[in-house]
Amino acid sequence: MRRFIGLMSGTSIDAVDGALVEIGGDRPGALRTSAFVSRPIPASLRHELEALQVPGADELARAALAGNALADLCAGVVADLLASAGCPADSVTAIGAHGQTVRHRPDLGYTIQLLQPARLAEACGIAVVCDLRSADIAAGGQGAPLAPAFHAEAFRDAAERRAVVNLGGIANISVLPPLGSPEPVSGYDTGPANTLLDGWCRRHTGADFDRDGEWARGGTVDAALLAAWLTEPYFAMAPPKSTGRDLFDAGWIERSLTSGYEPRNVQTTLVELTAVTVGRACRESGAERVFVCGGGVRNGFLMERLAANAAPAQVTTTQALGVDPRAVEAAAFAWLASRRVDRKAGNLASVTGARGPRVLGLLGEPRPRNQGGGRL
Ligand SMILES: Nc1ncnc2c1ncn2[C@@H]1O[C@H](COP(=O)(O)OP(=O)(O)O)[C@@H](O)[C@H]1O
Ligand SMILES: [Mg+2]
Repeated sequence: MRRFIGLMSGTSIDAVDGALVEIGGDRPGALRTSAFVSRPIPASLRHELEALQVPGADELARAALAGNALADLCAGVVADLLASAGCPADSVTAIGAHGQTVRHRPDLGYTIQLLQPARLAEACGIAVVCDLRSADIAAGGQGAPLAPAFHAEAFRDAAERRAVVNLGGIANISVLPPLGSPEPVSGYDTGPANTLLDGWCRRHTGADFDRDGEWARGGTVDAALLAAWLTEPYFAMAPPKSTGRDLFDAGWIERSLTSGYEPRNVQTTLVELTAVTVGRACRESGAERVFVCGGGVRNGFLMERLAANAAPAQVTTTQALGVDPRAVEAAAFAWLASRRVDRKAGNLASVTGARGPRVLGLLGEPRPRNQGGGRL
C-alpha cells in the first residue's frame, strides 16, 4: 500500500481541501480515502486570487506571492492530514497539488494554476506533483475535466450505468458505462454551479454562500431570465469542452438582467440554471443513478431542483458509495499524483479530446533520496 495526498482549491476559491488516499493494499489498484481535511482560504488571499482572475497591474509578482501564500496554506492542510491520520510525512509517496486556476484558455494553448510547488515540497518534505493540466493541453486537449479518470477508477460498476457529478464552482459530469462495455468513459464541464451562486449571494446578502440554498428557496424563477441565460452558446457546444471563471463571471449574469430585478429571484433562477443544465446532462447520460459530490451537495435546494431535472436518473451522493462527497475532488488529485509517479496516463482522451493518453504533471522532489525525501 502506498499513500498519496491530493490538494484541491477549485473555482469557488473557498478552501483548500486535502485527502489522504491509500492505493494498493489488499488488491492492486484498490483505493481508500483515509482522511479528509479542509482549511478555509483567508479572506485577504481569496480577494487576491479573485483579483488575479482578470488582467491587472504588476500581476506577475502578485501571482508569485499568491502562489507562495497558497503553498503555505497547502502545507498546513498536509500537516492537518498527517496529524488526523497519525502517519509520518515519509510514509507519503507524493502530493498531487492542483493550485488555483487563474486562467483557463485551452483554445489558446494554456491554463494557469498558481502554486509554488518547491515551497510546498520544502515545507512538507514530500515530493509534489503540480501543473497537472498542461500536458493534456499540449496534446490538443481541454486539460479538463481531469476527475473522470479517477471517477472511473473509483466508482465504475460491473452492471450499473452510472454518472458522477461534481458541484464545485463549475459543474462537471463523468459518464461511466458498466465495466467491460466497449463504450469509453466520457465527461465534460456542464457550466456554472457555485461560482455564480456564491458571487451573487455575497454581493446581495454579504454571506459567502447561500447556506443550504435557503435564500434562493424563498424566491421564484424568472422564466425570461432563465431563457436568456440558456442561449449561452457554451451550453449547446458538443464535448469535449471545459470552462471556468473566464466565461462565467458577474458580467455574464448582468448581461441578461433587465431593470427592476429582484436579487433573490435572480439567485433562485441561478439555482434553476444549474439544475437545468446539469439535469439535462444527467438525462442525456442515460445513467440509472447519478452520484453527486462537491460543496453543492450541501445546498439542499439545489439538490432538490437537480433531482427534479435529472429524472428518470436517480440523484444521490457519493456517500452512497462510501466516499465523503467533500473529499472526491481532492482524492482525484492524490490518484493523479500516483499516476505521475508510476508514469501512467492521468487523462482520458475520450474526455479531454487530447491526441492520446498522457502522463500528467511536473514532479518535484524535496531532498536527495538517501536523506528522508520520501519513497518514490
Ligand atoms: N452548507 C452549504 N450550503 C450551501 N452551499 C454550500 C454549503 N457548503 C458549501 N457550499 C458550497 O460549496 C462551495 C464549495 O464547493 P467545492 O466543492 O469546494 O467547490 P470548488 O471545487 O469550486 O472549490 C461553496 O463555495 C458553497 O457555494
Ligand atoms: Mg472548494
